[in-house]
Amino acid sequence: MQRHDLRVDIDRLTARLDELGAVGSTGDGGCARLALTDDDRAGRDLVVTWMTDLGMDVSVDEIGNVVAVRAGSEDGPPVMCGSHIDTVATGGIYDGNLGVLGGLEVVETLESAGVVTKRPLAVAFFTDEEGSRFAPDMLGSLVYSGALSIEEALDVVATDGARLGDELGRIGYQGPTPCPGIAPYAYIELHIEQGPVLETHGETIGAVTGVQGISWQELTIQGQSNHAGTTPMSYRHDAGFVAASIAVRARELARRMGADQVATVGRLQLSPNLVNVVASKATFTVDLRNTVEKLLQYAEAELSRQVDEVCRSEGVSCSSRRLARFEPVEFDSRIVDLVERTASRLGHSTRRLPSGAGHDAQMLARMCPSGMVFVPSVGGISHNPKEFTSAEHLEAGANVLLGAMLELAESDVLHFDGECEAVAH
Ligand code: GLV
Ligand code: MN
Ligand code: MN
Repeated sequence: MQRHDLRVDIDRLTARLDELGAVGSTGDGGCARLALTDDDRAGRDLVVTWMTDLGMDVSVDEIGNVVAVRAGSEDGPPVMCGSHIDTVATGGIYDGNLGVLGGLEVVETLESAGVVTKRPLAVAFFTDEEGSRFAPDMLGSLVYSGALSIEEALDVVATDGARLGDELGRIGYQGPTPCPGIAPYAYIELHIEQGPVLETHGETIGAVTGVQGISWQELTIQGQSNHAGTTPMSYRHDAGFVAASIAVRARELARRMGADQVATVGRLQLSPNLVNVVASKATFTVDLRNTVEKLLQYAEAELSRQVDEVCRSEGVSCSSRRLARFEPVEFDSRIVDLVERTASRLGHSTRRLPSGAGHDAQMLARMCPSGMVFVPSVGGISHNPKEFTSAEHLEAGANVLLGAMLELAESDVLHFDGECEAVAH
């Protein structure tokens, strides 16, 4: 059989997705494997077993990223794919997992056909992509790329008070391989879209052009608790009111700025959190994203101005803590073209689109030519147990990953114009 006629086994891929999805199952179709918890360890152990069963050479680095390599006929930097297997607390079974298990499916397809590629292939899963327990998101790939030091990363404190380094050691995933890691020849990540664009347009494959910028901060409002019945409205220093007002203003700001600006208050805690007490303290997060750096900076400045305004008028103080800040990233046009070309060759409709979610690929883009393949998410729903992608679309995405990896592994597709293999951005 010709290499370009090879196809993945969709039943094997969906069986693995279901088996991994059962680890940390929330019983409603979803799963919760927050980074570096016992369930994350169980998910990691399962995937490492699959990697080992495929004869891959598995290594674990200092931040717990796992990289499995299948040797090529020549040495050199591998063509890498991957993603993450941690989830948010209300996660589905596809986010991240598809990129990793899709990669294993590519390897198993080649293994079954007895095909050895010229360049080595690697399948990776990166620690704490979600960032909901330990901020920032994409932490493992950030450290892999060298943009965050291992010392700083190990000292990150979780929302539940645990230190990242302690949790990594506790679950047995602080490995010996140093960070930053080896720059791959290229990196390509298969992922569900997690938004409605492909489904709305009836298209099967997204050739992802880049990832929008991400700004996360945690705000703490300090007011004064008081009796809910006796305190006249004009006497109040109500932290709960201020938090609610900022959430409303963030949403209005995004609406005013237009479709590419999004704003979310996703976590909010009030203290003392009682029905008849004015809240003295509110701690909440604001997530702002835009594909254009200047517009994201405008949104940040405008929100900050509004926070000052509402705090002053209510007589409360505010402090803020930066949780994550990543500029928008553009993927390598040669990888975007390759994804589009491979999808078309396989008979799939395609669309170029930016990613609304953060991904490990945006960190790998600092080290090597990188890109992503998207498949549709039913109803555009993700970070929700109802997250779903049809087997037909999973299969299409995995076959595009297979075709693109084969081309990267065999040809000198990244060598035209005399450019070097690993482009530092
Ligand atoms: C991470 O996956 C994010 O986009 O929040
Ligand atoms: Mn993801
Ligand atoms: Mn996610």
